[in-house]
Amino acid sequence: MDTIDAVKTRISTRAYLDEPISRDAVEEILDIARYSPSSSNLQPWGTIVVSGDERRAITDLALNTMMANPKGEDDEYPIYPADLPQQYQDRRAGVGKAMYELMGIERQDEAARQAWAMDNFNFYGAPVAIFFTIDRLHGRNQWASLGMFMQTVCLVAHAKGYGTCMQEIWAMVRKSLHSHLHLPDNEVIYAGMALGVADKSKTINTLRTEREPVANFSRFIGF
Ligand SMILES: Cc1cc2nc3c(=O)[nH]c(=O)nc-3n(C[C@H](O)[C@H](O)[C@H](O)COP(=O)(O)O)c2cc1C
Repeated sequence: MDTIDAVKTRISTRAYLDEPISRDAVEEILDIARYSPSSSNLQPWGTIVVSGDERRAITDLALNTMMANPKGEDDEYPIYPADLPQQYQDRRAGVGKAMYELMGIERQDEAARQAWAMDNFNFYGAPVAIFFTIDRLHGRNQWASLGMFMQTVCLVAHAKGYGTCMQEIWAMVRKSLHSHLHLPDNEVIYAGMALGVADKSKTINTLRTEREPVANFSRFIGF
């Protein structure tokens, strides 16, 4: 798979086959992804890879935490700004609507929507989860590098035949997860990522999200 194919055909995979992935296979993906760039080569990322019983324990922890506090835990790093401008709200609503339509979930069916959202915490059935962490002292530039690293992981996994889904929803249980994993105070979990073999028979994996044309986000000067 060449780079252009990889970029154009990667999608967020939200249904997986019950096929384990070996530690070696995950390590190989990370071993390639570590060539991702970062500001001044700081490589400010950390990963925690979980599978098997630990993955299940984390799902249980998240579901219990959400049951106790359906709005999620108070968090110092909110997923979205408080007043998301309309154009972003529209895009966010657009992907949600497209997903629920594909799943055959009615707009009013709050219970079904909630159940589907909670499947995030089961990593959509993926056998492996990767959590991405960063030192609390870092600022937004290093967080950008962490994001690049995550995208590199997704592309490498895709080139190797695996599906992925980045998951910032883990911010909702960030505190509980942090203490469950016994992380030091200075380490922050940014997001999770589901990793596994895509179940291509599932309609949700046919979702192709829209993008703005280049003219809507670019200015060219001096051509
Ligand atoms: C940083 C980041 C966090 C995301 N968090 C979630 C998430 O918590 N749950 C989810 O289902 N998708 C999540 N996504 C997937 C986005 O919804 C998806 O990338 C977007 O709709 C574009 O679709 P595509 O990835 O299929 O191209 C996340 C994506 C990114 C980049």
